[in-house]
Amino acid sequence: MKVPLLDLKTHHKPIRRQLLDTAKKVIDSGHYILGPEVAALEKEIAAYSRVKFAVGVSSGTDALLLALMTAGIKPGDEIITSAFSFFATAGVIARLGATPVFADIDPRSYNLDASLLASAITPKTKAIIPVHLYGQCADMEPLLKLAAQRGLAVIEDAAQAIGAEYKGKRAGGIGLAGCLSFFPTKNLGALGDAGMLLTNDAAFARKALLLRVHGAEPKYYHKLLGANFRIDALQAALLRVKARRLDRWTAQRRQNAARYADLFRRAGLLESGVVGLPSVSHPQSTHGHIYHQYIIRVQRRDELRAYLKKKGIDTEIYYPLPLPLQECFKDLGYKPGDFPASEQAAQEILALPIYPELTRRQQAFVVDSIRQF
Ligand SMILES: Cc1ncc(COP(=O)(O)O)c(C=O)c1O
Repeated sequence: MKVPLLDLKTHHKPIRRQLLDTAKKVIDSGHYILGPEVAALEKEIAAYSRVKFAVGVSSGTDALLLALMTAGIKPGDEIITSAFSFFATAGVIARLGATPVFADIDPRSYNLDASLLASAITPKTKAIIPVHLYGQCADMEPLLKLAAQRGLAVIEDAAQAIGAEYKGKRAGGIGLAGCLSFFPTKNLGALGDAGMLLTNDAAFARKALLLRVHGAEPKYYHKLLGANFRIDALQAALLRVKARRLDRWTAQRRQNAARYADLFRRAGLLESGVVGLPSVSHPQSTHGHIYHQYIIRVQRRDELRAYLKKKGIDTEIYYPLPLPLQECFKDLGYKPGDFPASEQAAQEILALPIYPELTRRQQAFVVDSIRQF
């Protein structure tokens, strides 16, 4: 039996006709960048994410970059973020000439440990970027409280967490601004690159809209130094088709997560502590986790991964090296041992297939193969 990590061709099969018809419509419209499809998508995603404003952009990375530019981040500023995330979270900080200041994670949720933030703040700190890793919101309440006390902007990296809830709000709608990615493998993925910036702040949204088009208003009169962060009409139109199924797909991912937990328990792998399952940090919210990734913790992870590969089961490691230890950040002076929770996670985590179309048989095969190992 083959168990891929994700199967986008199968994922798109039930809506293939609609996607083709939509693509045809956009091709025939002659309108390919921004425009009515983008405006409609922005309205729909804003409503879905329970925010007032949404700005469609070229990628999740650009959403983060645009959010920082809109917040006025300049060279020399310091931005605190998680040591354990996809590279873009920190890359955008450095690209603006600002300094990423890393804080370690809570080893259960893999998200920023809010108790470590205060000691990372200096007079140069301007913002905090919590990451809602794997589809579960970071513990935002203590973080927001600290940010308010110290006058810091909070920009959520919600690239992996569309629709994840935290105390009645949704990922990307909790801080000053939030950033979504529509990279094809995301729970809501485009058929190319795309992203979105979310905010409830009208002035922030206005400035972001301006910066998205090289700061021009009117055309060819540049008020601000922006860039080209525009989203394609084609991606927006295709995303609108897919967004209608998002809740169903999320429900299927949650069902798969529950099934894994049950299968691992029955296999006797939990009591023995051989396998650690994802922990749900906000159990008061049944919609807290959207399971963008299903992450288990194991010893001898690399051996297990190779064993599963041989059996036809694909897995992935998100991420094998914490951000402060990346080569491009060596001038920041961090060293192994500085971020124990992130470093241990990097050694032990393994992402199992969790995509909506995964079958019960495939899941049983994955768990049985792990038990055999
Ligand atoms: C946590 C996180 N931040 C940022 C990004 C960047 O998004 P994109 O790939 O759309 O640029 C991603 C997605 O890859 C991500 O997972």
